[in-house]
Amino acid sequence: MAEELHIQAKDKEGKYRELLPQIKALLDGEPDRIANMANVAAALKSAMCFFWVGFYLVKDEELVLGPFQGPVACTRISKGKGVCGTAWEKRNILIVEDVEKFPGHIACSTLSKSEIVVPLYNSQNEIIGVLDVDSDQLNAFDTVDAQYLENILQLL
Ligand code: SME
Repeated sequence: MAEELHIQAKDKEGKYRELLPQIKALLDGEPDRIANMANVAAALKSAMCFFWVGFYLVKDEELVLGPFQGPVACTRISKGKGVCGTAWEKRNILIVEDVEKFPGHIACSTLSKSEIVVPLYNSQNEIIGVLDVDSDQLNAFDTVDAQYLENILQLL
């Protein structure tokens, strides 16, 4: 496909619905997971106007910063630390309405107000990383984001 996204919907679910097949086409035939993560981060950042979108990848019992779009971010996160490390430890999607109210939240930017973290699994059902999406608005994420972001991660 042409490396260009076309999103016409104005509402969040509509944008995701239009974006999903375009991401699918973008990744189709490309086996390199890092390259695909880079394009997923870029597609989500530009189509959904998120503040920060990126992957942290499990390496030697830590999460290490992977492909991302947005301001510079912290490089390593331990298991159980911050929203990302907690989602990894609990094997759960975490939606944080107000990051200041999440005990142990790791503030990479003071502009980040709410966040969603979705674990990324391999075919053995092991977590190999997480997708972290931050918004500069409070309460920006809900089950619609959780569902579509999970669907997008299944393409990786
Ligand atoms: N806020 C995350 C850290 C990563 S940055 O937001 C990019 C956390 O608490 O895990």
